[in-house]
Amino acid sequence: MQRFYITTPIYYVTDAPHVGTAYCTVNADAMARWHRLRGDETLFLTGTDEHGQKVADTAAKNNLSPQEWTDRTSARFVEAWKLLNISNDDFIRTTEERHTKSVQSFLSTIYDNGFIYKGTYVGPYCVDCEDYYTAENLLDGNCPVHGRPVIEMEEENWFFRLSAFQDRLLAHFESHPDFTTPETKRNEALSFIRSGLRDISITRTSISWGVPVPWDDRHVFYVWYDALINYLTAIGYGTEKDEMAQWWPHSHHLIGKEIIRFHSVWWPAMCMAAGIEPPHHVQVHGWLLVGGQKLSKSMGNDGPVRLGEIAPATLVDEFGVDAVRYYLLRNTALGSDGEFSIESVTARYNTDLANMLGNLVARVCAVVNTKCASVGPAPSPDSELLQFAHVTIDEVSSAWENFEPHIALEKTWTLIGAANAHLENFAPWKMEPGEAIDRVMGDALEAIRIISVLITPAMPDTADEIRRRIGLGAVTAQGDWNTLRTATYPGGLAVQKGEPLFPRIRSAA
Ligand code: MSP
Repeated sequence: MQRFYITTPIYYVTDAPHVGTAYCTVNADAMARWHRLRGDETLFLTGTDEHGQKVADTAAKNNLSPQEWTDRTSARFVEAWKLLNISNDDFIRTTEERHTKSVQSFLSTIYDNGFIYKGTYVGPYCVDCEDYYTAENLLDGNCPVHGRPVIEMEEENWFFRLSAFQDRLLAHFESHPDFTTPETKRNEALSFIRSGLRDISITRTSISWGVPVPWDDRHVFYVWYDALINYLTAIGYGTEKDEMAQWWPHSHHLIGKEIIRFHSVWWPAMCMAAGIEPPHHVQVHGWLLVGGQKLSKSMGNDGPVRLGEIAPATLVDEFGVDAVRYYLLRNTALGSDGEFSIESVTARYNTDLANMLGNLVARVCAVVNTKCASVGPAPSPDSELLQFAHVTIDEVSSAWENFEPHIALEKTWTLIGAANAHLENFAPWKMEPGEAIDRVMGDALEAIRIISVLITPAMPDTADEIRRRIGLGAVTAQGDWNTLRTATYPGGLAVQKGEPLFPRIRSAA
């Protein structure tokens, strides 16, 4: 048993959740579910990032106070994640009292340790990124991420001595080769460190929507500086509910590729400055693109897609929650960018879910109904199908372990393909009731039992429904994962037919 603490980035409340932010959250959820299934002690955190210039500006544009705006928008994230069956153990909001306490305590420690000093910042700043740039980083004078004009910032601020950590960070990357994965993203972080680290301005006097600096009440902390600390707030850093010893540094931060520098450079340096270990692992994912562009809230509705049409609620309405989860996990390799389209969701739905998984379960239940008097037979000990299933269990297990959900699902679907081929091959619907058909159906039911466990992290409701149809209870770590290889479908259970799990959808074209 391990301890597994997984986090998503906390989402800006500048607008509603969309399929891009759902992508990250569903991936983190599947990892958390996988680790719970393995019996690991698991903590899964997500939440909302509610301070900063951008949020204050958005609230003002909507004629609301920042607090009213954040209350309203944060609730939309809670609602969207509920709809997507996200199993987070905690939901953090950076405007909560517990967060203010942790941030102030953490940064006071860094201050006391001598890594914060007063200076003046002059340079370009992108409000959309809430990030500073140098003139060389800009693309045609614009922000390299958003392609929009930057503002010229000049402020007397408190600075974090990031430059003091260059060598220690390089040593950490050296001694922890898996600190940031995949490797291409690790190299990106490394080359940023090697290019020379500059100290960072970490406070603001120009806005008041932030966590107050405890040693200088004219300043609030820069939003990124308060945001990163959320990972510690949730485990009670600096408060009476301190669970640091239990959960730190077992953390895995799942993040998008544009925020590597904050998580793989700033954050470990901040931890070092505060005298705690850096996080265990930063897992980077790519972007969902629409028409080649990053799908984002600032894309608005005049781009290649209307955001409302691909809001999580609309997709769940159209395809069902587990199909949306499956698509997000299966269609894009974690770490790469992926093009999102309704056509590709429809295609995967019809091919992988309706034709392969849905059809397998429907055929097996129907044949057991008509040829085995609705009682599921037990499998034979060493069938070819089951030997293949056992190889698949190992492959799927190591793919989940390595943060490769798309491979875990690809391998699971190879087993679903093999189970369908097993049926085609024996054509039990043409056989007479008797021992031979019992063997064929017992093996198919055993494959379905194994498949139901393997799909649990991705499609928890479907897994339980499939099991209900073949007479088994919901998946548990103790009863199912631990005995996945040793136990078998017991036989003698009532098998029921049901509505199609994934009725085919006609494509729009
Ligand atoms: N608030 C910061 C994170 C602070 S974490 C201490 C932030 N918020 S964000 O809302 O802009 O983005 C949050 C995450 O959502 C990022 O990891 C980002 O990559 C991800 N995504 C936003 N749009 C996305 C896609 N189109 N595709 C995939 N991920 C997407 O940055």
